[in-house]
Amino acid sequence: MCGIVGYIGPQDATPIILNGLRRLEYRGYDSAGIAVIEDDEIEVRRDAGKLDRLAELVNEVPLHGQIGIGHTRWATHGEPSARNAHPHLGTSGKVVLAHNGIVENYKDLREELSAEGVEFKSETDTEVIVQLVDRYLSLEMSFEEAAQRAISHLQGAHGIVLLSTKEADKIVAARIGNAGGVVVGRGEGEMFVASDMPAILEHTRQMVFLESGQMAVVRRDGVEVSDLKGEPTEFEEHTVAWDPVAAEKGEYRHFMHKEIHEQVRSLTDTIGGRVDFDSGRVHLEQLNLSPEQAKKINKMFITACGTASHAGMVGKALIERIARIPVEMDIASEFRYRDPILDENTAVLAISQSGETADTLAAMEEARQKDAILWSIVNVIGSQAMRISDGYISMQTGPEIGVASTKAYTAPLVDVYMLAVLLADLRGDLDEKRRCELVSDLRLVPDLASRCLDREDEVEEVAWALKDFSHCLYLGRGINMPTAYEGALKLKEISYIHAEGYPAGEMKHGPIALIDEDMPVVVIAPRDPWYDKMFSQIEQAKARGGIVVAVATEGDEVIPTVADHVLWVPHTPWMLSPVTTVIPLQILAYHIAALRGLDVDQPRNLAKSVTVE
Ligand code: AGP
Repeated sequence: MCGIVGYIGPQDATPIILNGLRRLEYRGYDSAGIAVIEDDEIEVRRDAGKLDRLAELVNEVPLHGQIGIGHTRWATHGEPSARNAHPHLGTSGKVVLAHNGIVENYKDLREELSAEGVEFKSETDTEVIVQLVDRYLSLEMSFEEAAQRAISHLQGAHGIVLLSTKEADKIVAARIGNAGGVVVGRGEGEMFVASDMPAILEHTRQMVFLESGQMAVVRRDGVEVSDLKGEPTEFEEHTVAWDPVAAEKGEYRHFMHKEIHEQVRSLTDTIGGRVDFDSGRVHLEQLNLSPEQAKKINKMFITACGTASHAGMVGKALIERIARIPVEMDIASEFRYRDPILDENTAVLAISQSGETADTLAAMEEARQKDAILWSIVNVIGSQAMRISDGYISMQTGPEIGVASTKAYTAPLVDVYMLAVLLADLRGDLDEKRRCELVSDLRLVPDLASRCLDREDEVEEVAWALKDFSHCLYLGRGINMPTAYEGALKLKEISYIHAEGYPAGEMKHGPIALIDEDMPVVVIAPRDPWYDKMFSQIEQAKARGGIVVAVATEGDEVIPTVADHVLWVPHTPWMLSPVTTVIPLQILAYHIAALRGLDVDQPRNLAKSVTVE
């Protein structure tokens, strides 16, 4: 997904923009550019490649000004190149644009503009936008009117940021649909625009998150927000709690490594203030859930993508087990195509770290159109998913930068556990004794996670043993079947090893044919209700010459006698065991990828938030 940074104020815009783009590098990109208004001219530097290349261009031919925009592009239309990199200039040279999203009708618009004599300089869909703005600016409209007229032609989802020498005292920004966010940051006599908070966190925590269909006119002294017809609209200014340091790597080589180790803090924070350990009461205020509402829910759906969907699978098991509400778990990209049977007595829970995943937002829209109660578990404050929900649970993990999600996986595991307890309690199905038992188990979680992290060196040794394999099978059962899927996803997305998660009981229905000395098998076998079955799984894999890595509970004296390697976890109440069993698998994937010399934080072909369908 692309990154956008804009600045207007008394400082030199160039270093602020370049530094902001660096904080968005984790989103993945293949070209970058910057535009600054200097002496009433728009200066542009841009090229394929990484920000180091852009910095070279800026050093070779410096550009200085107090208003500018920058962009990191992930090519969709037109290969990564200087001519296709953003920002894009209009023919007049008086307007420049940076854009996230896809202009779905760009071919028609390109033909229309070409017929008017516009000569396109790139193969991108984006360029039609700036040429449309140019067209309307030449008709003596105001800058924002010209932008509004241009945007009225566009189909698709967009994040747009514009500058013009005709009105060089403002940045115009707009959000249409879900092509990632557009956030405006308020400073002292200066303002910032970005597609994501980490880009500007070091300058301000005062943030305005544009909603879809909103335009912002940003001047040095503030921001005006309107709809796309120019009608002023209400907007909220958030003070975000994330600190700039949290968006830095610190002493870690990779964000992912840092975020794995942040899980003691993030689990503490996601529980903190939400549980009364004396009464056993759970408080999830932003869910806006009353006992009456809780009682009328007769069905739930959980919908999400990727890692978040694995948390959803655990959520299904926990809510059904604790709250006795039937739950269906749907991959978000499938949910709306199945014409789900929803009504006002159905609750739909979306789980999304970024809150901007297009498939998940589309699934949420389906739920809204069918009058379901819509909740979300989201990490990014002010994200679209959080804003369109009837109620939400914030993951409270702080920014997660590494593309491979870690702390934003274990936090929602605890969030769905708390949701299950709250639902059961509000529905009157949980006596105080049982409620206190369940809640007191939560108190253990941060320390249990810490004990998993203390064993990193042992896990790294196993990483050395597995790093050169090309395939790997992960097996889990019951509450830890999703752990197998998640462990496999971690490995495949950062090490590029083909890894597959499987319900252990399915092995005999086919996959067991795969097992030999070239197919290591990770077996998740903690002391939970499925231990005995998982133990026999280990024996079956060994009998076929497989190399077995077992996730086992500390003190287990039997598994080490059959498994080739053991990843130890502390004894954990089984409904919370996915929190601990996944941590060694996160660490294993991290070290294998690092040992293979790969770009752990920005794996090839992946983006941190998938804002296209
Ligand atoms: C997980 O490591 C991946 N980065 C990916 O599967 C991710 O979980 C998925 O794209 C969903 O993202 P979201 O939580 O921001 O919606």
